[in-house]
Amino acid sequence: MKRLPAGALKALKIAHVVCAQVWLGSVVAVFFYGLHCFNSGLGGPAAAEMVGLIPTLYQRVVLPFGVAMIVQGLVYGLFSQYGFVRLRWIRIKWILMFFVMILTGAGSIRSVLETIRKLNAGEITSLAPSDGLQFFVFVAGQIALLCTITAISVLKPKDGKAGNGKTAAAN
Ligand code: HEM
Repeated sequence: MKRLPAGALKALKIAHVVCAQVWLGSVVAVFFYGLHCFNSGLGGPAAAEMVGLIPTLYQRVVLPFGVAMIVQGLVYGLFSQYGFVRLRWIRIKWILMFFVMILTGAGSIRSVLETIRKLNAGEITSLAPSDGLQFFVFVAGQIALLCTITAISVLKPKDGKAGNGKTAAAN
């Protein structure tokens, strides 16, 4: 496959790092918004509307940046020397990305939709932190994995040793 020219690779890297920042930052913001919701003590339609903003935030902000990261990963894989499976740190990034997606879709979004259903059905009369426990665990997991991916990206470890970027890039 044809390699990207150096200038395009630099532009891709800037876009990649900016998207990584926004993605991680937006998940942290969702976590704190969740704290606000589940500590509000609100019930009924007001609570359902408040919590309902969480899936909207995921849909409008978090997921588009997640998709952008996957697209950039595909571009790196197809059009650069990094490839998909050649380097261990890239393989680890793909695996961790997969788990971030699972924790997002089957984790936090699903658990918030369940909370909204319970609020609408009257099974929860007023929000308490314990109602959001699952949600917080899933979002904390996403944050932890995204921080790990960031650390792996910067350190670019190879063969079990943490090499510096220069050594690993030349790998
Ligand atoms: C699986 C999808 C991903 C692939 C294939 C991928 C691939 C890459 C590659 C090849 C580089 C080196 C770019 C260069 O030096 O020219 C890079 C850098 C970087 N990536 Fe990713 N990435 C992915 C996902 C992520 C995610 C999810 C994050 C963080 C949330 C992230 C954060 C970074 C950062 C911060 C750098 C810059 C590291 C540095 O040069 O010091 N990446 N990525």
